[in-house]
Amino acid sequence: MSSTHHKRRVRKAVFPVAGLGTRFLPATKVMPKEMLPINDRPLIQHVFEEAREAGIEDFIFVTGRHKELLEEHFDYQPELEDTLKARGKTDMLEKVQDSEMPAGRLFLTRQPRPLGLGHAVWCARELIGDEPFAILLPDDLVNYKQGCLSQMIDAYNVHGGNIVAVKDVPRPETNKYGILNIGQDDGHIVSVKGLVEKPKPEDAPSTLSIIGRYVLQPEVFDHLAVFETGAGGEIQLTDAMAKLIGQQPFHGLRFKGDHHDCGGRLGFIKANLAYGMADKEIGAAVRQAILEAAETIKAGGRDVAAE
Ligand code: G1P
Repeated sequence: MSSTHHKRRVRKAVFPVAGLGTRFLPATKVMPKEMLPINDRPLIQHVFEEAREAGIEDFIFVTGRHKELLEEHFDYQPELEDTLKARGKTDMLEKVQDSEMPAGRLFLTRQPRPLGLGHAVWCARELIGDEPFAILLPDDLVNYKQGCLSQMIDAYNVHGGNIVAVKDVPRPETNKYGILNIGQDDGHIVSVKGLVEKPKPEDAPSTLSIIGRYVLQPEVFDHLAVFETGAGGEIQLTDAMAKLIGQQPFHGLRFKGDHHDCGGRLGFIKANLAYGMADKEIGAAVRQAILEAAETIKAGGRDVAAE
């Protein structure tokens, strides 16, 4: 394995957005789940911004039926911008302009059937070609001054090969994640000896789990192309990645920042509280509202929403 080959610049990122979002029904009956907002921007824009900050130039959406809003969200909206300009709303105008995709940099491919994350990524193979690439799952948000993917690219520039973002989870939750079998571990970077998708707590080789950020070498497509099914009868990205171990460097990065799993309602609501508290304009008021809600709960455990 030549180390120069494995440190080619990461220019492309894949965003798997074909999922149905059944956990948010009926909110996601007609609206893509990736359009659900955390504070002032939809999930998809949070991960787009993280990728852009990390130096990604080409943004590849693996999309599906009823997902057209996602591409429109990143378009130039002339009427809106004119109206904001005419009303002197420069703050809002800047926010809107900042959510625009650079011309010719958004690529769309489709996953016609929900056959698993590995299959979704495989659907982007022609758009990636023969170069390293990133994957960002919009369900996972990481809040930190340096974005998670940017931290991973720093690690990639040192170690090359493949990097996954990892964090410890409570053992009873290993069956929700890809789990690492770890070799060397310096508390920041861990070398990966094995990967297993959604193991039962008693079978999990560790509690270090993959969250939805990856930097991978294109050889992963050779393994995805086999269409082998794994956990849940799905074509798993984790299984294809596991086949690269021993062939190429493979590391886990314990990233800095707070991770929010926005793929379910509880994590989504918690993420909104966290991003709301951190907001420049409304942060103080959000904190106050949380304190008031806590007081109400303490005072009698009343169901605040039921009043
Ligand atoms: C996917 C991956 C899993 C990873 C997780 C992170 O699972 O298959 O390895 O740990 O994303 O969010 P999913 O959440 O799609 O079930």
